Amino acid sequence: MRKNWSSDGPSSWCPALLRWFRQHQRPMPWRDAPTPYAVWISEMMLQQTQVATVMPYFERFMRRFPDVHALAAADEEAVLKAWEGLGYYARARNLHRAARRVAGEWGGRMPVTATEWASLPGIGDYASAAIASIVSGEAVPAVDGNVLRVMARFRGSDDDIMRPATRRRVYEDLLPHIRDVNPSDFNQALMELGALVCRPRNPLCDACPLQPSCVAHRTGRTAELPVKTKGKAGPHHMVAMALVWRRRRLLLARRPAKGMLGGLWEFPGGRCRRGESPADAVARIILESTGLRIKVGAALAPIQHAYSHFRITAHGFTCRCTVGGQVKAGGECEALKWVRAEELADLPLTKVSRDLARGLGSCRALVSAAPHRRPPVS
Ligand code: ADE
Ligand code: SF4
Repeated sequence: MRKNWSSDGPSSWCPALLRWFRQHQRPMPWRDAPTPYAVWISEMMLQQTQVATVMPYFERFMRRFPDVHALAAADEEAVLKAWEGLGYYARARNLHRAARRVAGEWGGRMPVTATEWASLPGIGDYASAAIASIVSGEAVPAVDGNVLRVMARFRGSDDDIMRPATRRRVYEDLLPHIRDVNPSDFNQALMELGALVCRPRNPLCDACPLQPSCVAHRTGRTAELPVKTKGKAGPHHMVAMALVWRRRRLLLARRPAKGMLGGLWEFPGGRCRRGESPADAVARIILESTGLRIKVGAALAPIQHAYSHFRITAHGFTCRCTVGGQVKAGGECEALKWVRAEELADLPLTKVSRDLARGLGSCRALVSAAPHRRPPVS
């Protein structure tokens, strides 16, 4: 297990990561002037909430409580009101208690080290490291869910990222690297990479500065990693789907009225067998479910999708139908029909098929049909 986390030598990937961060980081109000108070507030808000949601709350909170003394002097109710809509209200109550302690017991002196920050209510290992690295440049890795995901993929590790032991290994893996660079940029770069590129689903590996050394990318395991037991939504299946063209029309299948996604239309397809490549699977499945022999063409970008009890990676292929004749519905589809690309906008499609249709970039009609169909309402 542990071997996955063995650190590499001189960190060739760190300069690339930091270069990427300098170019691609999102502007955030607390990044221009990272005062201890502003960074603290921002990190508390960001712990369970996305950056875009946090922005307006942060601005309002800072106007309302511009410094630790203003926050300490406020009623708890006023603090909760300013937090309203952000959720996880224990964060706000802890923040308020911590502000009172800093303003009172600490005489208004803000914490400096990660250890000091972690002694305040509501500030754990991740937040204390994030704040101390950003405010004071302390070289402590801030390991949040984003960073765990990025590193599990980057190292190709099967360790369960929900386990504390995995977090410690990631921390130890990162420690020698953060010591070589600007700690604030390093921590924030990994978080930003997790939010913008190495996303939970459909990571943008081709835009990733870590790609040259990334084990998950090299071994084709980006969809399987990270391993996350708690909250993991069931098994993962590989699905192959065909976007079959015949006489400028695409083949669609309707799902059985009863059952999952009942009555929705989708591109025909099904599960790959163990060890079967999606390209092989798609020809087999289409023959079995429609009687058509197809010529399998280009692969579209795979789509990840989570249902309540399982997840899929859907591999879509543009295909041609080489022979005419009837199609017969079978297997998982109740009906089949050939439609023009423009008609897709008006049909109830599954999310995965809609995403695949969007991936057919060459056919602009698929993408733009929907917004332009209806005349403007006056
Ligand atoms: N998530 C939590 N803290 C963050 C930060 N400082 N930058 C980007 N994403 C974050
Ligand atoms: Fe994540 Fe892909 Fe980058 Fe690897 S190459 S770190 S999987 S985005």
